[in-house]
Formats: sequence, structure tokens, C-alpha cells
Amino acid sequence: MQNNRKESVYMQWAKTQTSGKFSLAPSGVENYLLKDLPVSINDIELTGDSLYGYVPLLEALAEKCKVDSTSVVTAMGTSMANQLAMATILEPGDEILIEEPTYDPLLATARYLGVKINRFPRRFEDGFQINPSEVKKALTPKTKLIVLSNLHNPTGVFTPETTLLEIGEIAKGKAYVLVDEVYLGAMFEKAPLSAFHLGEHFITTNSLTKIYGLSGLRCGWILANPELTKKMWLLNDLFGVIAAHPAERLSVIALKNLDKIAQKYKDLLTKNHLIIRDFLDSRKDLSIVRPDFGTIYFPKLNSGSVREFSKILREKYETIIVPGEFFELKEHFRIGIGINSEILSKGLSNIALALDEIC
Ligand SMILES: Cc1ncc(COP(=O)(O)O)c(C=O)c1O
Repeated sequence: MQNNRKESVYMQWAKTQTSGKFSLAPSGVENYLLKDLPVSINDIELTGDSLYGYVPLLEALAEKCKVDSTSVVTAMGTSMANQLAMATILEPGDEILIEEPTYDPLLATARYLGVKINRFPRRFEDGFQINPSEVKKALTPKTKLIVLSNLHNPTGVFTPETTLLEIGEIAKGKAYVLVDEVYLGAMFEKAPLSAFHLGEHFITTNSLTKIYGLSGLRCGWILANPELTKKMWLLNDLFGVIAAHPAERLSVIALKNLDKIAQKYKDLLTKNHLIIRDFLDSRKDLSIVRPDFGTIYFPKLNSGSVREFSKILREKYETIIVPGEFFELKEHFRIGIGINSEILSKGLSNIALALDEIC
């Protein structure tokens, strides 16, 4: 995959190539609709009092995350939260250490910032778990930021607190640890507190996009120590300056109703995990590390080309998967399960037909 320093090839593909009758490409849950939020026009105003954040939104996020509001920075989705966090920490000549495989825009952002990118592996044979000794090995005196996602994109694997603490020990006094937690909410009542709580060199990013179906609000946030959040707000004056105020107001309303929203998607995901596990039980031609939670699965095609396979799926079966080449593992592909259950079932049946055809 060819990547220019000022673009994400994956994001272009995701924006232009993932619509189809049976699209299993989305990594988040299906959209929550405005009509299902208890909103009246009187709740919305076009412009408001939001300079360094909109206080009611900062407070609602602080309450959700069990932090002080001085540790919260709001941003345009987890995407801008990651950009803002990385740009605040990193200086020319610094190095960043990013998990492999990873979500391409994390790499693209580091590339854009012009820092040297080093990697630590997550291996299939280790259940895609992080081995802290590999992180230690890859850390250099110039490493200023270690980056991982929890739950992991593309595999959905959960990183437990013990591992995060070990990584924190390795980083202490040398580097910050950025944990992208955009999928962590999919653990629902089993979700741990944000890794922000593990030490002041932990920074976390998140949004209402993936687990609450509210991508359109672009309600993202960063949790970091107040010394850093101050710098992030100042740097944001060079980016978005202020947020779209109607979205801030709607986000506050969404946060007040988050339990109800979460229940809808918990029910959907519980059902869909059973559907995909049945499918996986029936396939000997796929190997997989099964995630316990989340919205994505990342099977490996035991033989044959995923590129060819996804072409057949698209052209003959109107079914879209995400080829693993976008995550640096070309023999894998990603299936999103946050979609309507019937579409998921039909998409998986189509995958079975295409697998029978190529194997
Ligand atoms: C790991 C990860 N971080 C961030 C994002 C983007 O999230 P948002 O829509 O909140 O910008 C994605 C989207 O797929 C993702 O997978």
C-alpha cells in the first residue's frame, strides 16, 4: 500500500469503497437516529459559550469518565483527538512507537507530523496480545510516545490493565502512552476505567462514534493530565479553534441518555457475536483469535488471496469486507458486526459461498 505523507489510503478506501448491499466493513455500530434522542428545537442554539470547550459538555464527559473536567479536551471525533494528542507531545526529531498491526490513520498522523515511526508487534500466535518486553526492546532514547488501541483495531483484542501497567512502567520518565479507547465502551458494564487513571503519563482518546452510533456528532475527547490539556487547548487554536455548537449541545443530551443508547447496541452486539461465532465454527478455512468483546473480527484466510476473495465477494455477492492489507496483514480480513443482524447473517452466508468457491 503506497502512502503519501499527507493522506490515508485506508481512509480514502473506507469513504469510497465500502457501500454495498451487504457491507460488513463498518467497524462501529449502525447509526443512532436523531428522532430517537429526546431533543426539541429549543434545546439547540447555533452559537454559544464554548471557547476552551463547552462547560456542560466537559462536565458531562468528566462525569462519564470519572475525572476532573480540567483533564478533558473535546475534539472532532477520536480522529482529531489523536491528531491533537500526538501533535502536542511530539517535536521534530522525536520518535513514536506504534503497535503493528494498527489502524492506518494513527500511522498517517505520525507520518504527517514528520516523526520517525518505530513499531512493536502484536502477533497472531500470541493472540495479538502485547508483549511488554517487545515494547521495551523497541523503545529508543528518542521515543516520546507509545501508541496502542484498546480494544485493538483490527483484531478486537482486549489489553488488560496488568499489561498497560507494565507498558506504563517502561515508559515512565521517558515517554507518554496514548491509548485509543474508541472501542472500549463495547465491553459495556465490564469495561474498565480509562487507562488515563493508570498514571499521569497516560493519555487516552475516545468518542461517541463506534459504540453509540453517534458518529455525526463528532463528539471526541482526550483525557490527559491538566498540564498537557492546557497545551492541547492552545494547539487547538491552530486547528478547529472552537467546535460546532449545535453538536456540542446534542452531545450533552446524548451523554444524558447514554445508558439507553448503550443498551440498544449491547443487545445488538450480543446477538451478532453469536451469529458470527456460529459462522466461524463452521469454517475450517479460516483461523482466528476470537475477541471476547467489541464490534470487529479479523479472521485469517488459511490459503488463497484475500484481495481476490474480496473482489469475488464484492462483484458476485455485493458483500464488502475490509482486506487485511489496510492493516499490514494481507492474509487477514476484517468483519464488522455492529450492523443489522439480518444483513450480517446474509453477508456471512455470502462469505461462506465465496470461500467454498475459492478453496
Ligand atoms: C482505532 C480508531 N481510532 C479512531 C477512529 C476514528 O474515530 P472517530 O470517528 O471518533 O473519529 C477509528 C475509526 O475507525 C478507529 O478504528
